[in-house]
Amino acid sequence: MTENSHDRLLIIDFGSQVTQLIARRLRESNIYCEIHPYNAVTADSIRSFAPKAVILSGGPASVLTENSPRAPQELFDMGLPILGVCYGQQVMMEQLGGKVESGQGTAEFGRAYVAPKADMPLLEGWFTDGDEQVWMSHGDHVSELADGFKVYGTSPNAPFAITADLRRNFFAVQFHPEVHHTPNGARFYKNFTDLAGFTGDWTMDAYKDQAIAKIRAQVGTEKVICGLSGGVDSSVAAVLIHEAIGDQLTCVFVDTGLMREGEADEVIAMFRDNYNIPLIHADESELFLGELDGQSDPETKRKIIGKLFIDVFEKHAKSVGGAKFLAQGTLYPDVIESVSFSGGPSVTIKSHHNVGGLPERMDMQLVEPLRELFKDEVRDLGRELGLPDSFVGRHPFPGPGLAIRCPGEITRPKIDILRKADVIFLDQIRKHGLYNDIWQAFVVILPVRTVGVMGDNRTYDFACALRAVTSVDGMTADYYPFTHEFLGETATRIINEVEGINRVTYDITSKPPGTIEWE
Ligand code: XMP
Repeated sequence: MTENSHDRLLIIDFGSQVTQLIARRLRESNIYCEIHPYNAVTADSIRSFAPKAVILSGGPASVLTENSPRAPQELFDMGLPILGVCYGQQVMMEQLGGKVESGQGTAEFGRAYVAPKADMPLLEGWFTDGDEQVWMSHGDHVSELADGFKVYGTSPNAPFAITADLRRNFFAVQFHPEVHHTPNGARFYKNFTDLAGFTGDWTMDAYKDQAIAKIRAQVGTEKVICGLSGGVDSSVAAVLIHEAIGDQLTCVFVDTGLMREGEADEVIAMFRDNYNIPLIHADESELFLGELDGQSDPETKRKIIGKLFIDVFEKHAKSVGGAKFLAQGTLYPDVIESVSFSGGPSVTIKSHHNVGGLPERMDMQLVEPLRELFKDEVRDLGRELGLPDSFVGRHPFPGPGLAIRCPGEITRPKIDILRKADVIFLDQIRKHGLYNDIWQAFVVILPVRTVGVMGDNRTYDFACALRAVTSVDGMTADYYPFTHEFLGETATRIINEVEGINRVTYDITSKPPGTIEWE
């Protein structure tokens, strides 16, 4: 089955951090879509893609700025249903003869409520319990509608929150229906694709088949090595690639010395017991810890780690007889926070080790079959591929490991202390039956010593922070609401059992404004 046998939707990306969430919402309704950066889209490329509908994403630019991004003008004469979101709405209005103005007290960021003005097909299932909560994030706003458009919903600072030209099937909204904080947003997209005539024939099984076909087409008869990090992503990538190309694949598990207690053994056992995939266990802890020793800048740490991974992979590419391809379990959130996913203009938040942390000089080509997916989708794909549930349900563990949980200087003694505290925190979570309610939990060793008193002696040891969050896809997160009893018991255990820590704090920052990891 190829993607051409499915109805296709084109998302033109203007660089919003949440564009991929549009794709995700569509996949939830079994719609096949692709995201193309605005600067790679032409009238011809749209015609050859042959979409049944087009969505114009949000983005950080202002249409009022010279040379700001636009859609190809011919798009609006192709007779296709079009939905513009946030910047996409402003682009539509600007290109169709309406007017956009900047801020002046009408900027809106965060939660807002839209009131209905009139009914239309995309609002089916909306406003059943009164005004709808939506998520706004805009400085500019539409001040005059293009010809043919009418208002269907307003919010206090967005008189044109929901607009449409029903004759042409053009829809334009100021808010982001794709984010969780627009609770009825998925229904809005479903209404749009229903109206455009999509049948919803795209499933994870179809995704798997397509991914396998793409891997085969990309690598041909060449050898591939796949970096296993211990997390779900790289394991799913490895099993998928093995299904595609069999023995052309060798996995390389790099022990960076920055793994959690027992992590390396668990991953190796899972692979050796369940799969017949050649696996190299590369103990490179001296190399990684040596190069990181004394480093304190977060981006420098990430860049060093990215480069060392590649050095190790290149070494093993030679040892297996010349692998031309390096496979990684890179996910969409890794990509969007590191570089722009589709070449569009989004902003770098941090260099994930397998994306922005890669060195410019690299002899191998990348195979990244999960690059469009979110973590929960990867878990579904893992189940589809038959990975054991216990493995699929594991908390994420980042490639740079404990290095990004040791703000300030990295030293071996600090990493050892951190590892001991971390295992106690996880043990507590498991004992209290909370593991599956939590997206990810870990300890951060802080670059600060504090004074304490233990027995009758003064101590001067490190403070640490516990971090535990709930999340659906890692893009946004909330801190986990442990009871005081749990926190007290865990702090006592860490202080009693780990020499080197005498103070424990709990991080109650959500994402945004924080990120999940501290670096
Ligand atoms: P942040 O800190 O960006 O983390 O909110 C979101 C998710 O990504 C994981 N993470 C990484 N995973 N390489 C990885 O494989 C990285 O460089 C990296 N940085 C963050 C993080 O653990 C969380 O699950």
